[in-house]
Amino acid sequence: MLDAWLRFTGEADAGALTPMCVPGHKQRYDLVGPVVAGDAPLYGGLDAIGHADVLRQDAERRAAQLWGADWCRFSVAGSTHGNQALALAAGRPGQEIIVTRSLHRSLLLGLVLAGLRPVWVRPDVDPATGLPGAVPVATVRAALARHPGACAVFLGDPSYVGATGDLTAHAAAAHDAGVPLLVDAAWAAHLGFHPDLPPHAIAAGADAMVTSAHKALPAYTQGALVLARTGRLDAARLDRAFEATHTTSPAGAIMASIDAARALLAQRGQDLCGRLLRSVAAARDSLRQVPGLDVLDGPGVEPAKLVVLLAGTGANGRAIERDLIGLGMPVEMADRDTIVPVVTLADDSATVARFAAALAAAVERHRGPPRRPVPAAAWTVAPQQALPPREAFFLPNETLPADAAVGRVSAELVAPYPPGIPVLAPGEIITAAALDALRGALADGSRIAYAADPSLATLQVVCGH
Ligand SMILES: Cc1ncc(COP(=O)(O)O)c(C=O)c1O
Repeated sequence: MLDAWLRFTGEADAGALTPMCVPGHKQRYDLVGPVVAGDAPLYGGLDAIGHADVLRQDAERRAAQLWGADWCRFSVAGSTHGNQALALAAGRPGQEIIVTRSLHRSLLLGLVLAGLRPVWVRPDVDPATGLPGAVPVATVRAALARHPGACAVFLGDPSYVGATGDLTAHAAAAHDAGVPLLVDAAWAAHLGFHPDLPPHAIAAGADAMVTSAHKALPAYTQGALVLARTGRLDAARLDRAFEATHTTSPAGAIMASIDAARALLAQRGQDLCGRLLRSVAAARDSLRQVPGLDVLDGPGVEPAKLVVLLAGTGANGRAIERDLIGLGMPVEMADRDTIVPVVTLADDSATVARFAAALAAAVERHRGPPRRPVPAAAWTVAPQQALPPREAFFLPNETLPADAAVGRVSAELVAPYPPGIPVLAPGEIITAAALDALRGALADGSRIAYAADPSLATLQVVCGH
């Protein structure tokens, strides 16, 4: 696929094409500028419309082989689309599914699309860090025992802050109950490619995994893979579910970049992951030397994830984030107590060391009295589900002042972003605790995403509930 993209864009740049098909920019840069440079459709660009599926299937087969799967699709719509495709493949409307409550909002909307009823399982929060660990296997086994009609177990692993669970044991729990284990591994496309990294979900025994090639791998934004080992899941149903919400015009550049990232992992994965692991280990060591600063480390922590704990320094993560942005070093997430930079195969030890030094210097500029970390709303929410998400999503709703909405059923999904984990979801009772937690996140500088009113002055509730 990468070869096809190189050939097409080469011909376009040489002026050898007069395309009478989409995209409408016809490879001209004089109308809207080079913003469309490199854009090539899969169908009718990388190959003729009638043949491009052969090319696509070849690239997807290579990826399936690399991950030890027997089914793979490349998505141009991120792990968002992958999660929704798996939700659509997992069961029938009305069936229950065991799901991590600290799920990404994309999966919650997947439950709305598929009409699945969540049975929430929650990770424990470590009071020392304010951050969640993985979901315990015993919690999933207990949920499966209480809900024998559940169609699948769907976990997010590693978590947003790099907590890794025992996926082999989770797979055994799910399989003992006769259901598949599905894993949102959005952040973990590199796992399994070095002996010091945990195995990826498929290798650990999961039936399917979703991963963003654009997060951990050097692929184009939006590129993602959905991989499955069929048996408990059906390949034709997976294809139908995947196609249901994927564009019919996938961008060839995104698809080809997933193929290129796959080839890179196959050829140099262990080398590059080794460099990544060494860079992150060195950054952890140097940051731990800063008085009061700590990093997540040890068993149950993804070794390539850098999660910086600020509470002991008294510095506010948002002030540090502003300094880092000023230095051209934006991070993936910062709240008062935690900073999560994303380090990938594209970084080398010099860039990571430079970042760690800049972070340490910013901490010194913003030091204050040490404090106890306060777990973010996303990690502590204990939802009271009054209606299934799908039912609440489609019922008529009304807008109320936020305080008057307490005790009513939320019509909307409200999530501080990042990490994009819903504090309120359609069908959940708006508790005073949830509203306080959201207001706390807003006051602390978080963007309140997906709410109709991001100022939280009003909330949307289900009429009559
Ligand atoms: C756990 C998790 N799953 C899924 C997604 C969605 O990924 P994408 O942005 O590739 O659609 C995210 C995005 O941050 C995420 O954190």
